[in-house]
Amino acid sequence: MLKFDFTYTLAENVQGGLDTAEIDSYSAKVEEFLKRLDENKPGFVNAVLTRKWIDSVNELSDFIFTFDNLVVLGIGGSALGNIAIQNALRPANWNSLSVDERNGYLRIFVVDNVDPDYLSSVLDCVDPKTTLFNIISKSGTTAEPMANYLIVRGILESYGLDPKEHLIFTTDPEKGVLRRLGRAEGIRMLEIPPDVGGRFSVLTPVGLLSAKAAGVDIEELIIGAKDAYDKTIKSPLWENPAALIAVTHYLHYLKKRNISVMMAYSNRLYYLADWYRQLWAESLGKMYDNDGNKVHVGQTPVKALGAVDQHSQVQLYNEGPDDKIITFLRTEQFDREIIIPKIHESEPELAYLGGKKLSTLLNSEQLGTQLALAKHGRPSITVTFPKIDEYHIGQFIMYYELATVIAGHLFNINPYDQPGVELGKKITYALMGREGFEEYNYSDSAQKRVEVE
Ligand code: PA5
Repeated sequence: MLKFDFTYTLAENVQGGLDTAEIDSYSAKVEEFLKRLDENKPGFVNAVLTRKWIDSVNELSDFIFTFDNLVVLGIGGSALGNIAIQNALRPANWNSLSVDERNGYLRIFVVDNVDPDYLSSVLDCVDPKTTLFNIISKSGTTAEPMANYLIVRGILESYGLDPKEHLIFTTDPEKGVLRRLGRAEGIRMLEIPPDVGGRFSVLTPVGLLSAKAAGVDIEELIIGAKDAYDKTIKSPLWENPAALIAVTHYLHYLKKRNISVMMAYSNRLYYLADWYRQLWAESLGKMYDNDGNKVHVGQTPVKALGAVDQHSQVQLYNEGPDDKIITFLRTEQFDREIIIPKIHESEPELAYLGGKKLSTLLNSEQLGTQLALAKHGRPSITVTFPKIDEYHIGQFIMYYELATVIAGHLFNINPYDQPGVELGKKITYALMGREGFEEYNYSDSAQKRVEVE
């Protein structure tokens, strides 16, 4: 199981930390909430308690493994989980390996932007003839994946390729243009459970198809998630990682710590912090509470990479405003190890490094940073992966999804909607001339402009 350490959130260990009594006072509220959650499970929990979604992906195996490349086109919750899983569970050079070195699994590209330089450079890497394109959009209407779909479709057609032999649509079972087109043209499709929102959907076909294509053990991902769910439902507050993440973040927020940094001491875990950034920001950043009061709550999530950001951010974390709670991600076991050679042994600045494991240096830097922060009165949590594998990544995902909805309950907001994203989408539609959105063309609404060259 993942290990969570909340030592450095407590007042005994960090000036300005939390009293255990403060945390205790939320015990009944959280336990009552979890009881109700278990009686009426949210979609993202039900999604891992059934084989339906894994099976739907497995059924496409024969088709998927006829290709050399998979290009995923999605954005937000339809891309970040795929990127996180890929980076955590496949080496950084995966796409440069030969097909034999990849054991026949596919190269994976996730395109989550409409930057023409970026998209062109990805498309330059793949031969359309040996490429499968997975268009993921829950709503089936989002401008970015739709634009990229049209571009890719144009390329397939220009090569004389049959689009339905190179496309999979992952979308809502009923709604949206992708579902309509898919039905009309006989394109293979995967369903996103209707009751699972984008940022909670990584353990549905949204994230499972690209994981499977890269040879990730998707069964283990789900087992890890299920175990994390069971633990959350059965455990009292002090033995409950998801509940403690939620309560400590909430209480630190009340103490004006309105930034939540997730700092990974592992390049492979860094993209989990990116996934968390969306989950925490979009779920908890809300204008209204559940009673209709204007509250403007939310904690700004920030990602950081150790040891790199020790030389960029940590000065600020230690001595700048006391407005952050930091979560460290670390691993006890790396897949590969490097022993630092003993060279220049007469030079004390180098000699202490010789013969040590590179991982020991990285993990010592993590602990050193955490202890320095504690000395400065800055709270932190540590999440330790016994190993970076499918099981523990599945656990991590479920723990943080649950922590998010528990925090939503504490903030008394709806963690599942994102009304603040909608207006920007509508204005973009208006700017791009989409029919029916003319009233949102605010492009000339500024009262006074300042434009400088
Ligand atoms: O979490 C969410 O709901 C959003 O971030 C969506 O994932 C994102 O806007 C993409 O939406 P869609 O999958 O409908 O294209």
